[in-house]
Amino acid sequence: MVKLDLGGCSSFVKESEYKEFVGKALEAYDVLQAGNGAGNDFLGWKTLPVDVSEELVAACEAVRDNWKGKGVDLVTVVGIGGSYLGARCAIEALSHSFVRPEGVPQVVFAGNNLSEDYIAELMDIVEVRNSACVVISKSGTTTEPAVAFRIIKDCLERRYGKKEAAERIVAVTDAKKGALKTLSTQEGYKTFVVPDDVGGRFSVLTPVGLLPIVLAGFDIRKMLKGAADERAELLNRSEANAVVGYAAMRNLLHSKYGKSVEILVGYNPKLVYLAEWWKQLYGESEGKDGKGIFPASVTNTADLHSMGQFIQEGSRVMFETVIKVENANRSVVIGSDPQDLDGLNYLAGQHVEHCNAMAGLGVKVAHIDGGVPQMGVSIDKIDEYNLGAIFYFFEFACGVSAYVLGVNPFNQPGVEAYKKNMFALLRKPGYEAQTEAILKRI
Ligand code: PA5
Repeated sequence: MVKLDLGGCSSFVKESEYKEFVGKALEAYDVLQAGNGAGNDFLGWKTLPVDVSEELVAACEAVRDNWKGKGVDLVTVVGIGGSYLGARCAIEALSHSFVRPEGVPQVVFAGNNLSEDYIAELMDIVEVRNSACVVISKSGTTTEPAVAFRIIKDCLERRYGKKEAAERIVAVTDAKKGALKTLSTQEGYKTFVVPDDVGGRFSVLTPVGLLPIVLAGFDIRKMLKGAADERAELLNRSEANAVVGYAAMRNLLHSKYGKSVEILVGYNPKLVYLAEWWKQLYGESEGKDGKGIFPASVTNTADLHSMGQFIQEGSRVMFETVIKVENANRSVVIGSDPQDLDGLNYLAGQHVEHCNAMAGLGVKVAHIDGGVPQMGVSIDKIDEYNLGAIFYFFEFACGVSAYVLGVNPFNQPGVEAYKKNMFALLRKPGYEAQTEAILKRI
């Protein structure tokens, strides 16, 4: 289960203030649980860990088995934002850093940018490898994935013919509406549904995340079990509830101590995309109405040699939330060297992870001395079960925390602003009136 450690904040806040914010967090928790807060038509994520049916899991596995039968060795997952980051997070965390197991397709991502170089290089491999594609868009109208998908679809149809290409494309989208739904119906693609009441950044436990994760060779049953066990834990309403503590402390540090930046800190490069997923979850959920804590991230110890200086001594606007992984999955012990020219014999016999843990403790003390409060969020190890748990923990905590802050966690009105300008500049039909006005401003 996910554990919360607030010890690194205790010298910064008063006990009475923390109690006051725990009270606020419990009120917010009640609103979330009663389903009577802002955005309450987007609470489907709360029960996903127990709602996802055996049929849905089996349907995801059937796509995997079908494509395995065709010898598919490259799956391009097309999507952006909430239709991308959860799957990428899980796949990066669970995969071997350097080697792909035999018989498992390589999963790559597209539609999360508009870089011509990126798509051209992707097409270099889509053109020649045994390819399939999962296209994910809840709205079915997002430009970035639509552009990438048009290019990939064209390639698959040229290579395999329209009928076989349709067998190699699966869409994850709305049950009824959107261009992707219409296209999928017309072309006969297999489709999975993004539930109406689950927003993009809360959708990792729907087919948006589950299908790509299965295709990459991982066990979504274990992930759902981890999320379900975490949910059961968090259903205990108490001051000791980890989401209550997390929401209380981050809002206290923000509102009374001017901490406007939260840095998610990892000590394992496999968790870089956990931070990217978390940044979207908190950034899009809380950053509105002139409010919010800016979500940032570092990966140590690499970033101690780049961002460490700023965190230690720069403007005192931040606090840290450290993702602690209690147990490494692998074991590497540092050897002894008869000459000891590098002076490292004092570490002989130690696990590398011991050095990582000591670096983490050293940083904790230094940062606290430097005025940076630190929370810890720990999991036992990096696996499907614990990732399911931490996904659910951060989603639940986000809902509670945003209600404490006083914003609707489940909308994202600001995301539209750039799109209107981009469409006008790209001369999309219907945006003619804005084009001249924008051209004058750039
Ligand atoms: O969390 C969100 O709602 C967004 O990040 C969306 O997931 C993102 O904009 C992609 O939208 P769509 O799935 O409709 O293409």
